Amino acid sequence: MSVRAIVLAAGKGTRMKSSTAKVLHELCGRPMLWYVLHALRAAGVEDVLVVTNPELQERIGEFGVAGIVQEEQLGTGHAVRIALGAMPPNGSGRVLIAYADMPLAGEEIFSSVLRALDASGALALVTARVPLPSTFGRIVRRDGGIERIVEVRDATEAELAIDEVNAGIYAFDEAALRDAVARLRNDNAQKEYYLTDTVADLVGAGKRVTPVVTSDPIHVLGINDRAELARARQEMNARLCDRHMRDGVTIVDPQSTYLEPELRIGRDTVIYPNSSIGRLSAIGERCTIGPNSRLSNVRLGDEVTVRESTIFDSSAGDRTAIGPFAHIRNDSQLAQDVRIGNFVEVKNSRLARGVKASHLTYLGDAEIGEDTNIGAGTITCNFDGERKNKTVIGRDVMIGSNTSLIAPITIGDGALTGAGSVVTKDVPPGQRVAGNPAKPLPSK
Ligand code: UD1
Ligand code: MG
Repeated sequence: MSVRAIVLAAGKGTRMKSSTAKVLHELCGRPMLWYVLHALRAAGVEDVLVVTNPELQERIGEFGVAGIVQEEQLGTGHAVRIALGAMPPNGSGRVLIAYADMPLAGEEIFSSVLRALDASGALALVTARVPLPSTFGRIVRRDGGIERIVEVRDATEAELAIDEVNAGIYAFDEAALRDAVARLRNDNAQKEYYLTDTVADLVGAGKRVTPVVTSDPIHVLGINDRAELARARQEMNARLCDRHMRDGVTIVDPQSTYLEPELRIGRDTVIYPNSSIGRLSAIGERCTIGPNSRLSNVRLGDEVTVRESTIFDSSAGDRTAIGPFAHIRNDSQLAQDVRIGNFVEVKNSRLARGVKASHLTYLGDAEIGEDTNIGAGTITCNFDGERKNKTVIGRDVMIGSNTSLIAPITIGDGALTGAGSVVTKDVPPGQRVAGNPAKPLPSK
């Protein structure tokens, strides 16, 4: 039987007090909406329609799914009506409905609600037992079976005392859903069309509605404000850390280690506290990361050391050591056995095997050959006020401390610059220069 999904994401999210749509707020580096779509895909549901508002619709392409705008947010039932109107009817199909503000719901929950909706059922929905008070809709049962859902603002004192709540995940028989949604009315406290009213409608019509009680309510935490967002982030981060620890990564303090989905981290890599790794980074085996380091879109080989440093959009080969207090950015490529020490910035540069820049240096738009040593305080003066210029340094070069290299410039293999040189002209291979402006020294 075919399964299609509707994800509701048009809500104003007023409780976020934000100018950004609620489901675009991020946790662990991905918007809330990303997680629901990811879990649906993992559960094998490919055909997904997201109900959006105009702001979200502009970005829906990034998520690889189709969206339809609900111009006025008249309630969850109204949103489903809009979605159904855009979906060609399939009499024997099933429709999964999920709210986009539940990033912690995993694929298992979607699979289990689909299983609960067997051939004879009209609706299966996920419920959870939670500590009270709760803002979730309450599950009203009669003779053990579910009778209806009552929203908090419409509930009596007795109903508010019910600790079984509606998670917001439903598997419907499509024909039953279409019928029930067409009959929804908005005669309630919020003057909204509640999707939850389909329960009483279907039960009243003698249809079978099956509750699926989830084992852990954290899976169905709906995020309505920023405090709930922080709780969800903590839970998601703990899950991500757990997964890597089970795969052989040592995380000294998961609570102060911030990971994102879709990372690769090799075995026996150790991550020290206060470090974050994000944006599809791939880290090799036996690396040491942190403490206090930030890696984003980074590729590291094996046995790389990164201490108290920041690396963005860059790579480093096996055994390279970075930091403390280094900044590597903008498509820099460090080969194997490179040594980048404290207070060194590397931008858009390629450093070959064995290059050392151990102290207080800026290397921007540079290309540096094997085993070259960059002395303390070296600056590639790459910006002439209008454009960025290239510095090319050969192999086995000795750049003396406090050298300024006025780019564009080329320093040949085996050359040397004296301490404090201001090098304004190309230096041929093997030549030694010094001074301001640097001039050739008599050969030894
Ligand atoms: C809803 C449920 C409640 C459940 C809770 C679980 C209803 C009426 N209530 O309440 O029973 O316990 O979720 O988290 O369904 N949305 C639209 N269009 C709208 C209104 C909402 O797309 O017109 C979307 C929102 O973007 C959100 C989702 O539907 O992703 C749920 O809406 P929300 O306002 O968060 O409902 P709750 O009050 O949390
Ligand atoms: Mg909600």
